[in-house]
Amino acid sequence: MEKDTTIAVSILTADFLNLKNELDRIIAAKIPALHFDVMDNNFVPNLSFGPKILADVSNYLKDKAVMIDCHLMVQLKPKVKVKDFLKPFIISGVNSITLHYEAMNKKQLLEFINWKNAGFKKGLAIKPKTPIKVLFSDLANLDYVLIMSVEPGFGNQKFITGSYQKIKTLKQYLVTKNFKAPIIAVDGGINDSTAALCIEAGADYLVSGSYLLNNQTSITEQLEKMWK
Ligand code: DX5
Ligand code: ZN
Repeated sequence: MEKDTTIAVSILTADFLNLKNELDRIIAAKIPALHFDVMDNNFVPNLSFGPKILADVSNYLKDKAVMIDCHLMVQLKPKVKVKDFLKPFIISGVNSITLHYEAMNKKQLLEFINWKNAGFKKGLAIKPKTPIKVLFSDLANLDYVLIMSVEPGFGNQKFITGSYQKIKTLKQYLVTKNFKAPIIAVDGGINDSTAALCIEAGADYLVSGSYLLNNQTSITEQLEKMWK
């Protein structure tokens, strides 16, 4: 498997009584990115955490070579401006912010897509039942496409195998158009059997949570199993 694929760790299923210790484990394992899952109990049937914890985590990681990628599973209210909504997340100093295609209206989508020099990398995520082609017209304005390989809402779910074809279709499209971006990211159910198949299909960036964090073995050992 190619090691130039980026692995991001989702802290959704981390031990929050020992969050500092969890972050130290991530730093020690040299994981280059932390994936921060924000849930609203509306777009998804679960609640997680918001800007305060993000700011604390970001502050702790700022000189530690771990990027933060923020995945917002939040339904935007119809009248809200994307720039206003994102302010509390941006001030935390995140590297990238990914919104769901399904969680915005057309106006909000256009505002996000057309936002130049936002100060963070922009991503759009799609749920498993959303076809990849809905994003084709926006690819030139995106840094990341996040393909959800589980129904968003919970960690530790089984990878939906139809996601491989979505990755392939997007990769093929980018190659045909000679696009160097966006990065193809995959999120949900990534482990030592699904990771290799995602990379083979064309993924550049894999988000893995429970496989890396909720095991008897260390993150480094889990990573090694993933690469072999
Ligand atoms: C699901 C989240 C994922 C998830 C990944 O809604 O977006 O980031 O926590 O966790 P695992 O790797 O356990 O599927
Ligand atoms: Zn996520």
